[in-house]
Amino acid sequence: MATDLIQMKGIAKSYGPVTALDGVDFAVRENEIVGLLGDNGAGKSTLIKILSGTVTATRGDIFVRGQKAQIRNTTDAIALGIETIHQDSALVTQLSIARNLFLGREPTIGPGFLNRMDKRKMNEVAGRLLKEIGIKKDIPATTPISYLSGGERQAVSIARALHFDSDLIILDEPTNNLGVEETQGVLRFMRRARDTGHSLIFIAHNIHHVFQVVDRIVVLRRGKVVAEDVDPKQTTIEAVEELITGMAITQAA
Ligand SMILES: Nc1ncnc2c1ncn2[C@@H]1O[C@H](COP(=O)(O)OP(=O)(O)OP(=O)(O)O)[C@@H](O)[C@H]1O
Ligand SMILES: [Mg+2]
Repeated sequence: MATDLIQMKGIAKSYGPVTALDGVDFAVRENEIVGLLGDNGAGKSTLIKILSGTVTATRGDIFVRGQKAQIRNTTDAIALGIETIHQDSALVTQLSIARNLFLGREPTIGPGFLNRMDKRKMNEVAGRLLKEIGIKKDIPATTPISYLSGGERQAVSIARALHFDSDLIILDEPTNNLGVEETQGVLRFMRRARDTGHSLIFIAHNIHHVFQVVDRIVVLRRGKVVAEDVDPKQTTIEAVEELITGMAITQAA
């Protein structure tokens, strides 16, 4: 069997007396979209924050392509090909689409310490990316992020992950507060990312969105994995809801 892209083993995380994660094993295979589901406070965001380097696990190991990895901060995660898109995304609203696409990784021109940002290149690449991800309106790459809708902002974040060729793209509630059409846009970008060789983790409370796009569902309940290999094609939304809440519908005798 092929090596998983990501393996998290025995991950535990406590915040003082609160156990957010309690011995979680979680894997992401190459080229798949994993839906990570669970009720409020189940530990979903904590788990992906450990992968993206913003939270340190109390216990447990992470392997990337079978190699043990140290993820101490976001720089480590990005170097390992892990890009995270948070719902309140890290875009800087005053800056242009192009600047946001390259934030912290700006191409430069000129020698050594005299170098400066290559704005022309950034605008050029950004314009191409916007077309690729299918933003319908003809928005120039110099437009500030504050002019964009929620869905368009998500699109810019996803475009950034695609451009830097991240192996794993993590999306924590990317479809919250989005309209129907914008949601479909985000789901489409996710499929396109998978079909061009990326793996994705998708966290959402709307199970309908999850069912439309994921290859596999993992369910967390109170910091523990209660299901790790749910095939959305072989189950129902109701059955997954039962896994999430832990409440089985009583069968009539
Ligand atoms: N920084 C923190 N300090 C203290 N407790 C925290 C912190 N972050 C998370 N927790 C706690 O850890 C548990 C898991 O939280 P987490 O944010 O991972 O849940 P979640 O599954 O993402 O929930 P939601 O669906 O509401 O986003 C919760 O009980 C939460 O209150
Ligand atoms: Mg969360």
